[in-house]
Amino acid sequence: MVDLSYSEGATPLDPNEAEGLLPKHITTQSQLNEWEQMNILEAEEWVSSLNLMTTEILSIDFIRKLHKKMFGKTWSWAGNFRKTDKNIGAYWLNIAIEIKTLMDDIKYQVSHNTYSNTELAARFHHRLVAIHPFSNGNGRHSRLMTDIFLLSHGEKRFSWGSQSLTKESTVRKKYIKSLQEADKGNYDLLLRFVRS
Ligand SMILES: Nc1ncnc2c1ncn2[C@@H]1O[C@H](COP(=O)(O)OP(=O)(O)OP(=O)(O)O)[C@@H](O)[C@H]1O
Ligand SMILES: [Mg+2]
Repeated sequence: MVDLSYSEGATPLDPNEAEGLLPKHITTQSQLNEWEQMNILEAEEWVSSLNLMTTEILSIDFIRKLHKKMFGKTWSWAGNFRKTDKNIGAYWLNIAIEIKTLMDDIKYQVSHNTYSNTELAARFHHRLVAIHPFSNGNGRHSRLMTDIFLLSHGEKRFSWGSQSLTKESTVRKKYIKSLQEADKGNYDLLLRFVRS
Protein backbone atom coordinates (compact mmCIF):
# COMPACT_ATOMS: atom_id res chain seq x y z
CA MET A 1 0.00 0.00 0.00
CA VAL A 2 1.11 3.54 -0.68
CA ASP A 3 1.55 5.61 2.46
CA LEU A 4 -0.23 8.82 1.54
CA SER A 5 -0.05 11.43 4.26
CA TYR A 6 -1.37 14.87 3.41
CA SER A 7 -0.37 18.38 4.31
CA GLU A 8 -3.16 20.78 5.23
CA GLY A 9 -5.31 21.67 2.24
CA ALA A 10 -4.17 18.74 0.10
CA THR A 11 -6.86 16.62 -1.49
CA PRO A 12 -7.08 13.01 -0.35
CA LEU A 13 -7.13 10.50 -3.21
CA ASP A 14 -10.01 8.10 -3.65
CA PRO A 15 -8.74 4.50 -3.42
CA ASN A 16 -9.56 3.92 -7.10
CA GLU A 17 -7.52 6.99 -8.08
CA ALA A 18 -4.55 5.79 -6.00
CA GLU A 19 -4.72 2.72 -8.22
CA GLY A 20 -3.87 4.94 -11.17
CA LEU A 21 -0.35 5.37 -9.82
CA LEU A 22 1.91 4.37 -12.72
CA PRO A 23 5.36 3.77 -11.13
CA LYS A 24 4.83 0.51 -9.30
CA HIS A 25 8.02 0.76 -7.24
CA ILE A 26 6.70 3.73 -5.25
CA THR A 27 5.65 2.85 -1.71
CA THR A 28 6.09 6.07 0.29
CA GLN A 29 4.90 9.65 0.07
CA SER A 30 8.48 10.97 -0.21
CA GLN A 31 9.23 8.69 -3.16
CA LEU A 32 6.02 9.88 -4.75
CA ASN A 33 6.95 13.54 -4.14
CA GLU A 34 10.34 13.00 -5.76
CA TRP A 35 8.83 11.24 -8.78
CA GLU A 36 6.19 13.93 -9.24
CA GLN A 37 8.88 16.61 -9.01
CA MET A 38 10.84 14.95 -11.84
CA ASN A 39 7.70 14.68 -13.96
CA ILE A 40 6.84 18.36 -13.34
CA LEU A 41 10.38 19.46 -14.28
CA GLU A 42 9.91 17.80 -17.66
CA ALA A 43 6.66 19.72 -18.06
CA GLU A 44 8.47 22.98 -17.19
CA GLU A 45 11.01 22.24 -19.93
CA TRP A 46 8.19 21.57 -22.37
CA VAL A 47 6.56 24.85 -21.40
CA SER A 48 9.75 26.86 -21.89
CA SER A 49 10.13 25.41 -25.40
CA LEU A 50 6.74 26.89 -26.38
CA ASN A 51 5.94 30.45 -27.32
CA LEU A 52 2.32 30.61 -26.34
CA MET A 53 -0.32 33.22 -27.04
CA THR A 54 -2.77 34.00 -24.25
CA THR A 55 -5.68 32.80 -26.38
CA GLU A 56 -4.06 29.36 -26.83
CA ILE A 57 -3.52 28.95 -23.11
CA LEU A 58 -7.07 29.87 -22.18
CA SER A 59 -8.62 26.67 -23.50
CA ILE A 60 -9.82 23.39 -22.07
CA ASP A 61 -7.39 21.58 -24.37
CA PHE A 62 -4.37 23.44 -23.01
CA ILE A 63 -5.43 23.08 -19.37
CA ARG A 64 -5.75 19.31 -19.81
CA LYS A 65 -2.57 19.03 -21.86
CA LEU A 66 -0.53 20.82 -19.20
CA HIS A 67 -1.85 18.53 -16.46
CA LYS A 68 -1.00 15.52 -18.63
CA LYS A 69 2.54 16.83 -19.16
CA MET A 70 3.00 17.47 -15.42
CA PHE A 71 1.57 14.19 -14.12
CA GLY A 72 1.38 11.84 -17.13
CA LYS A 73 4.24 9.65 -15.89
CA THR A 74 2.73 9.53 -12.42
CA TRP A 75 -1.03 8.97 -12.75
CA SER A 76 -2.93 7.09 -15.47
CA TRP A 77 -5.76 9.65 -15.23
CA ALA A 78 -3.51 12.71 -15.67
CA GLY A 79 -5.10 15.24 -18.01
CA ASN A 80 -8.60 13.90 -17.38
CA PHE A 81 -11.11 15.79 -15.27
CA ARG A 82 -12.36 14.28 -12.00
CA LYS A 83 -15.16 11.73 -12.12
CA THR A 84 -15.93 11.94 -8.41
CA ASP A 85 -16.65 14.78 -6.01
CA LYS A 86 -14.13 16.19 -3.52
CA ASN A 87 -14.53 18.13 -0.29
CA ILE A 88 -13.57 21.13 -2.42
CA GLY A 89 -14.37 22.17 -5.99
CA ALA A 90 -17.17 22.07 -8.52
CA TYR A 91 -19.71 19.24 -8.82
CA TRP A 92 -17.75 16.93 -11.13
CA LEU A 93 -20.30 16.95 -13.97
CA ASN A 94 -20.06 20.76 -14.09
CA ILE A 95 -16.25 20.95 -14.36
CA ALA A 96 -16.05 21.37 -18.16
CA ILE A 97 -18.72 24.08 -18.25
CA GLU A 98 -17.21 25.93 -15.28
CA ILE A 99 -13.77 25.87 -16.92
CA LYS A 100 -15.31 27.15 -20.17
CA THR A 101 -17.03 30.00 -18.30
CA LEU A 102 -13.78 30.86 -16.52
CA MET A 103 -11.86 30.95 -19.81
CA ASP A 104 -14.49 33.18 -21.43
CA ASP A 105 -14.47 35.56 -18.44
CA ILE A 106 -10.69 35.83 -18.43
CA LYS A 107 -10.54 36.42 -22.20
CA TYR A 108 -13.14 39.16 -21.81
CA GLN A 109 -11.21 40.73 -18.93
CA VAL A 110 -7.95 40.56 -20.91
CA SER A 111 -9.49 42.33 -23.89
CA HIS A 112 -11.19 44.99 -21.72
CA ASN A 113 -8.20 45.59 -19.40
CA THR A 114 -10.53 45.04 -16.44
CA TYR A 115 -7.60 44.40 -14.07
CA SER A 116 -3.82 44.70 -14.12
CA ASN A 117 -2.10 41.55 -15.43
CA THR A 118 -0.98 40.69 -11.90
CA GLU A 119 -4.45 40.99 -10.41
CA LEU A 120 -6.06 39.13 -13.30
CA ALA A 121 -3.52 36.29 -12.92
CA ALA A 122 -4.18 36.04 -9.17
CA ARG A 123 -7.93 35.98 -9.74
CA PHE A 124 -7.48 33.35 -12.48
CA HIS A 125 -5.47 31.17 -10.10
CA HIS A 126 -8.05 31.46 -7.35
CA ARG A 127 -10.96 30.51 -9.62
CA LEU A 128 -9.12 27.67 -11.37
CA VAL A 129 -8.04 25.99 -8.15
CA ALA A 130 -11.52 26.55 -6.68
CA ILE A 131 -13.04 24.52 -9.55
CA HIS A 132 -10.44 21.84 -8.70
CA PRO A 133 -10.79 20.12 -12.10
CA PHE A 134 -8.49 17.16 -11.44
CA SER A 135 -8.34 14.44 -8.79
CA ASN A 136 -4.93 15.67 -7.65
CA GLY A 137 -2.24 18.14 -8.61
CA ASN A 138 -4.64 21.09 -8.79
CA GLY A 139 -2.45 23.39 -6.69
CA ARG A 140 0.71 22.82 -8.71
CA HIS A 141 -1.15 22.76 -12.04
CA SER A 142 -3.06 25.98 -11.45
CA ARG A 143 0.06 27.77 -10.17
CA LEU A 144 1.96 26.79 -13.33
CA MET A 145 -1.06 27.73 -15.51
CA THR A 146 -1.03 31.14 -13.83
CA ASP A 147 2.71 31.57 -14.43
CA ILE A 148 2.27 30.65 -18.10
CA PHE A 149 -0.54 33.19 -18.33
CA LEU A 150 1.80 35.85 -16.88
CA LEU A 151 4.67 34.88 -19.22
CA SER A 152 2.34 35.13 -22.22
CA HIS A 153 1.78 38.75 -21.18
CA GLY A 154 5.52 39.42 -20.90
CA GLU A 155 5.24 39.48 -17.10
CA LYS A 156 7.47 37.72 -14.58
CA ARG A 157 6.24 34.51 -12.94
CA PHE A 158 4.83 34.80 -9.42
CA SER A 159 7.19 33.93 -6.55
CA TRP A 160 4.37 32.18 -4.59
CA GLY A 161 5.91 32.82 -1.17
CA SER A 162 9.39 31.85 -2.48
CA GLN A 163 9.17 28.36 -0.94
CA SER A 164 7.79 24.97 -1.86
CA LEU A 165 4.07 24.94 -1.05
CA THR A 166 3.66 21.18 -1.15
CA LYS A 167 4.83 20.59 2.45
CA GLU A 168 3.08 21.78 5.59
CA SER A 169 4.65 25.14 6.50
CA THR A 170 3.89 28.68 7.62
CA VAL A 171 4.10 29.77 3.98
CA ARG A 172 1.58 27.14 2.91
CA LYS A 173 -0.77 28.24 5.72
CA LYS A 174 -0.48 31.82 4.45
CA TYR A 175 -1.22 30.63 0.93
CA ILE A 176 -4.33 28.66 1.93
CA LYS A 177 -5.51 31.55 4.12
CA SER A 178 -5.13 33.96 1.20
CA LEU A 179 -7.25 31.65 -1.01
CA GLN A 180 -9.92 31.46 1.70
CA GLU A 181 -9.99 35.26 1.90
CA ALA A 182 -10.32 35.36 -1.90
CA ASP A 183 -13.34 33.02 -1.55
CA LYS A 184 -14.96 35.90 0.37
CA GLY A 185 -14.04 38.36 -2.37
CA ASN A 186 -11.00 39.84 -0.62
CA TYR A 187 -7.93 39.49 -2.86
CA ASP A 188 -5.51 41.66 -0.85
CA LEU A 189 -3.74 38.79 0.92
CA LEU A 190 -3.46 36.72 -2.27
CA LEU A 191 -2.11 39.68 -4.24
CA ARG A 192 0.56 40.25 -1.61
CA PHE A 193 1.32 36.52 -1.33
CA VAL A 194 1.91 35.78 -5.02
CA ARG A 195 4.67 38.39 -5.27
CA SER A 196 6.22 37.59 -1.84
N1 LIG B 1 -9.50 25.58 1.88
C1 LIG B 1 -9.05 25.86 0.66
N2 LIG B 1 -9.52 26.93 0.03
C2 LIG B 1 -9.10 27.22 -1.21
N3 LIG B 1 -8.17 26.48 -1.88
C3 LIG B 1 -7.67 25.43 -1.29
C4 LIG B 1 -8.08 25.05 0.00
N4 LIG B 1 -7.42 23.95 0.32
C5 LIG B 1 -6.64 23.65 -0.73
N5 LIG B 1 -6.77 24.53 -1.71
C6 LIG B 1 -6.07 24.50 -3.00
O1 LIG B 1 -6.00 23.17 -3.44
C7 LIG B 1 -4.64 22.78 -3.63
C8 LIG B 1 -4.48 21.32 -3.23
O2 LIG B 1 -5.14 20.54 -4.19
P1 LIG B 1 -4.44 19.27 -4.85
O3 LIG B 1 -4.02 18.31 -3.78
O4 LIG B 1 -5.30 18.77 -5.95
O5 LIG B 1 -3.17 19.95 -5.52
P2 LIG B 1 -1.65 19.55 -5.39
O6 LIG B 1 -0.89 20.22 -6.48
O7 LIG B 1 -1.52 18.07 -5.27
O8 LIG B 1 -1.32 20.21 -4.01
P3 LIG B 1 -0.13 21.08 -3.51
O9 LIG B 1 -0.66 22.44 -3.29
O10 LIG B 1 0.20 20.39 -2.23
O11 LIG B 1 0.99 21.05 -4.49
C9 LIG B 1 -3.83 23.74 -2.79
O12 LIG B 1 -2.54 23.96 -3.30
C10 LIG B 1 -4.65 25.01 -2.91
O13 LIG B 1 -4.35 25.67 -4.12
MG1 LIG C 1 -2.30 16.93 -3.75
